[in-house]
Amino acid sequence: MKIEYLEEISSTNDYIKRYLTEQEDRIVCASRQTSGKGTKGRSFLSEEGGIYLSWLKFYRDFPANCAFRIMAHAAVSVCRTVSKFTFVRPEIKWPNDILMERKKLCGILIENILCGDRVHASVVGIGLNVRNELSSLGNIAVSLSEFAPEVEMEKVREELIENLQRESEMNEYFSFIRFLGKQIVVTENGESYFARADSILPDGRLQIDQLGVKRIVSAGEISIKL
Ligand code: BTN
Repeated sequence: MKIEYLEEISSTNDYIKRYLTEQEDRIVCASRQTSGKGTKGRSFLSEEGGIYLSWLKFYRDFPANCAFRIMAHAAVSVCRTVSKFTFVRPEIKWPNDILMERKKLCGILIENILCGDRVHASVVGIGLNVRNELSSLGNIAVSLSEFAPEVEMEKVREELIENLQRESEMNEYFSFIRFLGKQIVVTENGESYFARADSILPDGRLQIDQLGVKRIVSAGEISIKL
């Protein structure tokens, strides 16, 4: 697999798309991003100290309705990586955040390129705080170095790249989810309400119970607070 290292780029997800015509898997890593992209059109703070990595992966016959597997695999790869450097267990906040002690350690942005009902390729973008100075974000984000003071960026990056290339099972994704069966706050169209998180369906949607009424919601429509 070709791996490219850059000092600074606007967004590794945007940059790696120039290789879409080459039909070959590839990884691009940057030390900083000037316009890091988050989910739902948000920006992603990408200063020195983090790992900003995009993985361009091509598929031969991957059904689009299984695309959640790509997200789950990326999240599991990050959790395995983190677990190699600290005993503190990471938690996956559905669908795509990795938390440590309830603070955000990593965000994942997947951009799929579809061809009919198949995923032709995906850009898996991972932003992982390793040695970041995050005080501007208040108490909501955390760096891996808080749990592993000696941690080295290069080792974490190598481990992450290895884990991405290994297989994973959905069971492992669920083993890092802790909010099922518990009460969460759901925000939908600017309004918040309490609900119980019941299960995650194979297509990645969340089943909730709102005062006895079962509902199925997707990550694009709502956000949750644990
Ligand atoms: C989120 O938390 O909303 C997702 C953040 C994803 C950030 C990563 S950093 C590497 C890749 N390039 C980007 O511009 N975004 C993703």
